[in-house]
Amino acid sequence: MYNQLNPAQGLNPMAESASTNLRRVDPRTDLSGIADLIELCFAQQMDADGRNYLRKLREAARRGSATLGLPAGQGFVWIEDGRIVGNVTLIAYFDNLRPIYLIANVAVHPDFRQRGIARQLTQAAMQAAQSAGATVWLHVREDNPIAIQLYQTLGFVEQARRSTWKRDQFVPPPPPQPTIIVRRRQPADWPRQRMWLEETYPPSVQWNLPFRPDNLSPSLWRGLWRWLNNQTARQYIAWRGTTMLGSLACEETTSYADVLWPACPPGTEENDVLLSLLAHLSPRRPLIVNYPAERGAAAFLACGFELQHTLLWMKA
Ligand SMILES: CC(C)(COP(=O)(O)OP(=O)(O)OC[C@H]1O[C@@H](n2cnc3c(N)ncnc32)[C@H](O)[C@@H]1OP(=O)(O)O)[C@@H](O)C(=O)NCCC(=O)NCCS
Repeated sequence: MYNQLNPAQGLNPMAESASTNLRRVDPRTDLSGIADLIELCFAQQMDADGRNYLRKLREAARRGSATLGLPAGQGFVWIEDGRIVGNVTLIAYFDNLRPIYLIANVAVHPDFRQRGIARQLTQAAMQAAQSAGATVWLHVREDNPIAIQLYQTLGFVEQARRSTWKRDQFVPPPPPQPTIIVRRRQPADWPRQRMWLEETYPPSVQWNLPFRPDNLSPSLWRGLWRWLNNQTARQYIAWRGTTMLGSLACEETTSYADVLWPACPPGTEENDVLLSLLAHLSPRRPLIVNYPAERGAAAFLACGFELQHTLLWMKA
């Protein structure tokens, strides 16, 4: 994750609730209970990242370390009979020096639901973040109407809706449109590509994506920077005649999947353009894409991508 703050900073220690059930997370004692609760409440939607996160949480719990660097070390829990039955995590970021807190892991044990616990936990997290002068964001799956309704009534408003697509194995793509030609990106293509990138990955989502438009610039300086940092980006442009139709950057990573940054103007041709670009990638590694929801689905599916989830990005 990019731009993450040191979670030890920023929160007002006085921002506590009057409730005796609700208290701040104590990372020395609570991590195991939080991990159990998250596993129970998110079992049906847990992906590889989620499982990895849980593994780290349990490891930190075993070590008994304060784990201030690990999301879940900061937030609030709800206690019933000495047991953690509710949790909310606060994860700190910077967006151009402006502090942001992301509310995550809102979870209440099934036996204790519909008693207002999630509402009070979320309110406590909002107050703590706002008293630290931070903007508050959260992500919620579009197929979770109960949580969406809860957040809307707490004042959260949808800012963006984004889908994550993943491809683990190469699937031969259908033949691309013969009139669309894909070539390597040239320096002269950058101004338009940059404009499309800024539209497709606007500042309202950049703070929580590993995306910086400048990293993809064709400048010599940026090329040197990428070389020194052992970063490779393959970049392509789709053309019809002399008209640029869209772009695709593929950033190699050392993690499980390489990251794609396709950028095309929305419209009737978007799927054809995306398909031509995606079909151009050699089948080397798993791939991951974060793209505006309901755009490009036909192209991603045709090229063997699976929809991981669609999230509403909400801000209070
Ligand atoms: C979503 C979740 C956190 C809600 O916890 P909760 O403690 O039951 O929520 P609350 O009691 O504070 O209720 C909040 C609102 O949702 C409504 N609600 C909660 N569960 C509901 C249900 N099953 N059906 C209908 N409404 C429901 C409540 O009536 C309440 O509305 P109101 O304040 O207008 O009366 C809980 O269901 C959960 O842990 N789900 C699995 C994990 C999850 O999806 N987390 C959200 C991730 S973004």
